[in-house]
Amino acid sequence: MKDSNFLKEHNARHLWHPMAHPAEILAQPPRIIVAAEGVRIRDVDGHEAVDAVGGLWNVNLGFSCQPVKEAIARQLARLPYYSTFRGTTNDTVIELSVALRDFFAPDGLSRAFFTSGGSDSVEVALRLARQYHKIRGEAGRVKFLSLKKGYHGTHTGGASVNGNANFRAPYEPLLPGCHHIPAPYPYRNPFGESDPARLAQLCAAALEDEIAFQGANTIAAFIMEPILGAGGVIVPHESFVPMVREICDRHGILLILDEVITAFGRTGAWTGARLWGVRPDMACTAKAITNGFFPFGAVMIADHVAELFESDRSGAASIGTGYTYSGHPVGAAAGLACLAEMQRLDVARNAAARGRQLFAGVQALQARHELIGDVRGGHGLMVALELVSDRATKAPPPKGVTATIQEEAWRAGAMVRVSGANIILSPPLVVTEADVDTILGALEAGFSAV
Ligand SMILES: Cc1ncc(COP(=O)(O)O)c(C=O)c1O
Repeated sequence: MKDSNFLKEHNARHLWHPMAHPAEILAQPPRIIVAAEGVRIRDVDGHEAVDAVGGLWNVNLGFSCQPVKEAIARQLARLPYYSTFRGTTNDTVIELSVALRDFFAPDGLSRAFFTSGGSDSVEVALRLARQYHKIRGEAGRVKFLSLKKGYHGTHTGGASVNGNANFRAPYEPLLPGCHHIPAPYPYRNPFGESDPARLAQLCAAALEDEIAFQGANTIAAFIMEPILGAGGVIVPHESFVPMVREICDRHGILLILDEVITAFGRTGAWTGARLWGVRPDMACTAKAITNGFFPFGAVMIADHVAELFESDRSGAASIGTGYTYSGHPVGAAAGLACLAEMQRLDVARNAAARGRQLFAGVQALQARHELIGDVRGGHGLMVALELVSDRATKAPPPKGVTATIQEEAWRAGAMVRVSGANIILSPPLVVTEADVDTILGALEAGFSAV
């Protein structure tokens, strides 16, 4: 490793960072992380903290997970790459497809289409949805519906169904035919409705209304996250996703669940689909599928969708999309090791228990600190605190306050994520009770400093 002077001198000077203004990053260079162990990360100055971000919602098994590292090393030594484009495959990806079929059997998802990450998975799912309707002879079903506040990655299709202006406005015009309905976000919504169950009804009614307005026979799919992550951990009422499923079924619209964050235990259930008791037509996965150690993802496809493609004799089902790294053997090896390890450690159970502790802790923080307008969570290790300068008006927090809290929390032993007015917590699923106490103590230090 280069010495710290070299690293600090060149930090952010010759690379642009995602989701950041290049000038701001030059003025305020990012923290240089140089090592990690267990659930802790260490910066270039030797300061250590619990990573309450979990990498980026992906390092579910922590940074040390030896079986995944060893699987990657073994695969690199034996077969570091081979393509899965028509005509070739590799043994490891075959084995992973069987393991994923078993893992997702309760969700009715039996085929995998492999990708290099979450944005790719969303793009592939959107494409396959359109193709599905073309095979069925309904070529006019090309539009997509989604939720405001939803996050579906940054490819053009994903940005088009994305529900946050920051990720859309600089890149418009986006894909035509993408329409959004209000998110089931009780703290802020256009209906002025704070009761989650009633709000779920109103959002479902808005979905019905949009379908009627667009014409059901023009809509390919509805895509949503089971719990909205990057939008600020927006947890729909338990009635919402089942209602969406019923509406989609009634109108012949495919339901794509974007499980890039929620699959593999983060919500305390093994999948978001299982959390809400629905079966999607497709599910997008990535992130924890390889514990963040290798860029990889999979779109999981329901039996009935797969059967339509596989029984086609017209040629319409020939798949014209995919990536050089689809089914990468090293990613597949990491995926196999992750599946085994997450089940061996029963991380969903720990996520549920530690999630209860974390959520109760931030609720207690809210009682002590006026700045916290809303806290959201209650399902595993996905928790957010929304800051306001005034609880009555819900006006945004004073400028710079989230950055100060983040800095103070870091000093006090936890890395937390700031996104707009939200502080988002998504630690590895292997955190202990003491780790969660450290995160809560660091947040207390952060809020006490402002
Ligand atoms: C729900 C969801 N979908 C898609 C993506 C995009 O994944 P990636 O950044 O791996 O492309 C993310 C990333 O955070 C996500 O949270």
